[in-house]
Amino acid sequence: MRVCVIGTGYVGLVTGVCLSNIGHDVICVDNNEEKVKTMKAGRSPIYEPGLDELMEKSIAAGKIEFTTDLAKGVNHAEIMFIAVGTPPLPTGESDTRYVEAVARGIGSHLMSGYKVIVNKSTVPIGSGDWVRGIVLDSIKERQEQGGPPCEAEFDVVSNPEFLREGSAIFDTFNTDRIVLGGSNPKALDMMEQLYKPIIDGEYAEEGTPTPIPVVKTDLSSAEMIKYAANSFLATKISFINEVANICDRVGADVTQVAKGIGLDSRIGPKFLQAGIGWGGSCFPKDVSALVHTADDYGYEAQLLKSAVDVNKRQRGMVVEKLQHELKILKGKTIGLLGLTFKPNTDDMRDAPSLNIVEELNRLGAKVKAYDPIVSQSGLRDGMRGTLVETDPDRLADGCDALVLVTDWEQFKSLDYAAMAKSMTQPLVIDGRNFLDREALQAAGFRYVGMGR
Ligand code: UDX
Ligand code: UDX
Repeated sequence: MRVCVIGTGYVGLVTGVCLSNIGHDVICVDNNEEKVKTMKAGRSPIYEPGLDELMEKSIAAGKIEFTTDLAKGVNHAEIMFIAVGTPPLPTGESDTRYVEAVARGIGSHLMSGYKVIVNKSTVPIGSGDWVRGIVLDSIKERQEQGGPPCEAEFDVVSNPEFLREGSAIFDTFNTDRIVLGGSNPKALDMMEQLYKPIIDGEYAEEGTPTPIPVVKTDLSSAEMIKYAANSFLATKISFINEVANICDRVGADVTQVAKGIGLDSRIGPKFLQAGIGWGGSCFPKDVSALVHTADDYGYEAQLLKSAVDVNKRQRGMVVEKLQHELKILKGKTIGLLGLTFKPNTDDMRDAPSLNIVEELNRLGAKVKAYDPIVSQSGLRDGMRGTLVETDPDRLADGCDALVLVTDWEQFKSLDYAAMAKSMTQPLVIDGRNFLDREALQAAGFRYVGMGR
């Protein structure tokens, strides 16, 4: 089928590349010229394992094109995805101006045929009708200004994404479900046809149950499914972090507790990793947007607000532990292992490291850091005053303590015995309960975990 994806960010680009890979003809539109130039050259502007290879395959097969020309995309496609950013405003509500701009742009270029406009971006509940209204207004405006008439018909559907950064391609082909929200069965049927190869499991790995279930529902329920899923996962993490904080005080080991409760099929073992909590571009934005929506409708979402509060506090927890161990942090040197909000991504949006760096700077500590991606990428916003090492073995030189901030796999196999020798006092705060406590202690470290 002919597809257009507008907004080639962490979600849009992965969606476009994967759809072109299963045989569709995709045009990816982005208003950032630099990004389009990079993608035309076959390189992805974001770090996502496996994406470059898939992009090259699709480009070689002539199944994908990158452009800033929205009109071209709109008139090529029978299904067009809006996947532009919906970042949080300071108030916590979603900033939907980019979605609005794209919807207006679509309305000004729609000419003929039947089109499905897909909200891929996480938009506030009830936005599907709002997008429809904007497109209709834009068509009307164009005709009032003597523009070409519009013979096109369209429907708006919601097709929320559940992609985790760092495993977005796997999550696309092995998703637990596909959610389609809309009022016109014709539009939902077209979407089902679009995803058919994925639904049938043609690209699924061993163990992914197929056919992949498709949830067809109304617009608002589909939009709520996205918010409820992210909010539940975020709350589950804040739950285990609350338990970890109590474990710290009673001397229990939260990793054992997580194992013991995770074996209950009603709870499940995933998203029970206690530590410095959640960051990234989705959980913080989506939970605060849902809280904001509840407020708008006169309901106080106490549980969600508490999950946000617990999460905010977790970042400060590692600094408190440093203070407990080192007393005065002023003049001390702290080495951060990892900066991104999670491993296998280059995304620094709302990364816990940003708050940790800020707090350590405020207390007068010197900060060094090493991150597998950030150290190479030259990305330094939010890293004011931080010495970003390019060699992990150098990180420990002269440090009074190390803090594991991001659970990058390679941090398991660093030479901690050598690192201990280059530290004034080998202390490690394991912010993700990720390191082997016994191995670190054998290497000469005092090991402090989060709830263990
Ligand atoms: C976005 C939303 O933020 C998220 O809520 C949703 O779940 C998926 O899509 P992400 O892909 O991370 O997530 O957005 P971002 O990385 O900010 O990419 C947005 C892209 O849209 C950027 O490449 C930007 O250049 C482009 N864009 C933005 C447009 O092409 N047109 C615009 O008007 C605005
Ligand atoms: C999340 C959702 O998982 C995905 O379905 C949605 O589409 C986008 O948001 P993402 O934010 O990319 O994906 O990463 P995820 O793996 O969910 O981790 C989110 C944050 O939670 C990270 O900061 C991670 O470090 C933290 N986390 C995750 C924990 O602290 N403990 C856990 O057990 C799991």
